[in-house]
Amino acid sequence: MNIQNSEKLFERAKKVSPGGVHSPVRGFRGVGGTPRFIESAKGVTLKDADGNEYIDFCMSWGPLLFGHQDPDISEAVKLALGRGWSYGTAERYSLEFAETLTQKIPFIDEIRFVSSGTEAVMSALRVARGFTGRTKILKFDGCYHGHVDSLLVRAGSGLAEMASPDSAGVSPQTAAETLVCPLDDELALESCFASYGPELAAAIIEPLPANNGLLIQKQSFLEKLSQLCKKNGTVLIFDEVISGFRVALGGMAEISHIKPDLVTYGKIIGGGFPVGAYGGRRELMNQVAPVGAVYQAGTLSANPVAMSAGHAMINKIIRENPYAKLAELTEWFCAELEKRAAQHLPYPSHLQRFGSLFWSVCNSPSSEIIRRQDQIPAQQKPLFADFFHAMLNRGVYFAPSGYEVGFLSTAHTKAHLEQVLSLASDAMIEIAKHEHR
Ligand SMILES: Cc1ncc(COP(=O)(O)O)c(C=O)c1O
Repeated sequence: MNIQNSEKLFERAKKVSPGGVHSPVRGFRGVGGTPRFIESAKGVTLKDADGNEYIDFCMSWGPLLFGHQDPDISEAVKLALGRGWSYGTAERYSLEFAETLTQKIPFIDEIRFVSSGTEAVMSALRVARGFTGRTKILKFDGCYHGHVDSLLVRAGSGLAEMASPDSAGVSPQTAAETLVCPLDDELALESCFASYGPELAAAIIEPLPANNGLLIQKQSFLEKLSQLCKKNGTVLIFDEVISGFRVALGGMAEISHIKPDLVTYGKIIGGGFPVGAYGGRRELMNQVAPVGAVYQAGTLSANPVAMSAGHAMINKIIRENPYAKLAELTEWFCAELEKRAAQHLPYPSHLQRFGSLFWSVCNSPSSEIIRRQDQIPAQQKPLFADFFHAMLNRGVYFAPSGYEVGFLSTAHTKAHLEQVLSLASDAMIEIAKHEHR
């Protein structure tokens, strides 16, 4: 595959931006090699600067539930552009979108739009602290919530421990306000609440953890968390930046029948444009300025073009309810991929999947469901990198990291997937030949 233009662009980009990218995983550090510079995308197809085409399973990291350039979203954006693209005032587009969301999602009384998932999480934490007058936050090992300082922390081992910063630039004092518990461990959770419950402003969780592989949690674990939050007056925040509108209209809250006090959204809610949102119980949302004392603002918040894109996306979801079909197709695709892996790969592997999300686990038998970060096989990174490149060279684009999930969209047809399966068999046969195995 000729990638000369991508290589040249990457060299130029590295001179003017850190690592040549504007978000770290795009830089291919997790898999090595040169990131493809994409020039256009339509349906399931990405086209790079050398004219190579790829069937895309990254889908802009999740937002593109209907594929690239969905015509309904495209139409809404074009109409919006004709009305001007930023007013900095009250307008009807965010109002109408907020009305749709609050009508359709029963536990959201009020919602505030921001411009990213990170901003949504940061704001929700502030609301929880403002409401409770407490400072400590509980998060879970392996859950990512954007680059909010207080959540960029690594777990201490074992039972909830004071966390240390996971990123330079986060002060130990900030990290010290965050407690980290393992996922899938009800005893650790109970013990954490027994020690710190009355000090905890919020517990934040990805109810479908999808940033360290796909660590599907048991219903009982989510229920236990919800009960402990209620008992201790701790605000339960579901971070549904990935799972919101991806697994169901009401996300994991709808599927688990657990009502969070606050929810955070990003990705799909903007239809591929920069939108985040946080919402929930009125009592909590009434803390937010200008009604309450918790300050939160944004020059481009509720940008009318992004609102129109997001609203078109959510309206289309409401009209088409794509979830059952997407889940069925994903299940079929993963099962077929597993069959080929069993036949060709020199190591055991399986795919963990939920709805239209999937994650390939290398060097792990299918009988072992991985629910915690520390259960991820040590060989995941290099083995996935091999598979990733073998597929990339054949025109299939997975997210460039063994710890990221893949997404199907309604633009993926069975014919696309059959093509990918055939390419995957070919890739696996090549991998099996590699000398070092
Ligand atoms: C669960 C979760 N929360 C928060 C974020 C941060 O969102 P953003 O990248 O829009 O800031 C992400 C991003 O991947 C996420 O997956």
